[in-house]
Amino acid sequence: MVIQKQTKIVHPGGFDGGVVRVPGDKSISHRTALLAGISSGTSEIRGFLQAEDCLNTLKAMESFGARSWIDDEGVLSIQGTGGKMIEPVGPLDVGNSGTGMRLLAGLCAGSPIHVTLTGDESLQSRPMRRIKEPLELMGAKVDLTPQGTAPMTIQGGQLRGIEYCLPTASAQVKSCCILAGLYAEGRTTVLEPIPTRDHTERMLRAVGAPIRVEGQNISVDGYGPKGPKFLARPYVVPGDFSSAAYWLAAGAAVPGVSVRAEGVGLNLRRTALLDVLRRMGARVEIERTSAPTDPEVYGNVTVYGAELKGTEIGGAEIPNLIDELPLVAVLGALAQGRTVIRDASELRVKESDRVAVMVENLAGMGVTVAEQPDGMVIEGPTKVSPTKSIRSYGDHRVAMSMSILAIFADQPVTIANVACVDTSYPEFWEQLSQLGVKVE
Ligand code: S3P
Repeated sequence: MVIQKQTKIVHPGGFDGGVVRVPGDKSISHRTALLAGISSGTSEIRGFLQAEDCLNTLKAMESFGARSWIDDEGVLSIQGTGGKMIEPVGPLDVGNSGTGMRLLAGLCAGSPIHVTLTGDESLQSRPMRRIKEPLELMGAKVDLTPQGTAPMTIQGGQLRGIEYCLPTASAQVKSCCILAGLYAEGRTTVLEPIPTRDHTERMLRAVGAPIRVEGQNISVDGYGPKGPKFLARPYVVPGDFSSAAYWLAAGAAVPGVSVRAEGVGLNLRRTALLDVLRRMGARVEIERTSAPTDPEVYGNVTVYGAELKGTEIGGAEIPNLIDELPLVAVLGALAQGRTVIRDASELRVKESDRVAVMVENLAGMGVTVAEQPDGMVIEGPTKVSPTKSIRSYGDHRVAMSMSILAIFADQPVTIANVACVDTSYPEFWEQLSQLGVKVE
């Protein structure tokens, strides 16, 4: 058999737990690249995630006139454009990242420039009408394919503030509107149906932007077409909770094992997985180390493994663990009883259709799982036994989540097409080995 370079074989057992430090938060890294990129002066960023998605956003900001460099200690410096964005030459390819594309689109819409944003095959299949609609209401011109996807061409400038009720709970769309609102005349108010991650709001507050949050209404007073006058400042990016989640989940499923993630983001809009782990029977300890003045909450989390039991996940919890749902499905397969994921149709428009892809892969590992339009129902516990190799469909979270299930299998599991892991967590395989699992 020919094993391709982009294939990993994960051997069962060996997960010892321990202490982990994960790389920087992806969502926050994207936003620092954007905000530092439009500020005046040079910002220093510690903990910036040097993974493909965020580096593509950084490259895009350089096309708009910012400059950046990374020193030997991994500290990123970004010399900003001072608010103005220059028109890039040719289309900008932001790779795999929906966050990169949707947030950059918000910035582009504010400036009198003509920009084409494109991405890889996965990103070119994802819905973009959700940002076209509000950006056009503000006065930008946004062209998409007839399917409502990228490549997306934006003619920006001359925006006016709007009041916009988000049709879907999406932090990416919310942030796109807020960033465009910075360049508008008047006030932009976004109403979100369910609270989603609020990194943009926190960072804008930290740089002194006129942003107000009242319940689920977020308002920003626009600076007009000249754009905001933010000053360079230092940023510290905490570890990515969504990356730590793999180790915390694995630890939760092994009685007697504990996993401690240090220096990790603990924003409540990101950490609903911890509530799920508790409901499933694991013990969770949280120690906050951030100062009350830090824009983001971070600290250390320890999870103690247990015999897990099934649980139900839905409603307002969904946006707060949206990226962890493939992992929750894996835990469902290991837990005693039924695990139900509902209200999660957004999963179908992520880097892959994560409902269909996870159902296919779980079934291939012997899991009893039923696909639902808005989620899935999993019956556990499963005798995890692969009947075929895992297919990631180029989706990093599928590849990593299924690697965690592989630890509990009765034989080595082949996971194909794993290069996608580099979009968010290039150190994943190394950390998996450090925690005791054999990976080839
Ligand atoms: C993100 C928001 C979420 C999440 C994505 C990152 C962000 O997407 O799935 O990985 O950085 O704003 P939606 O807000 O579209 O659900």
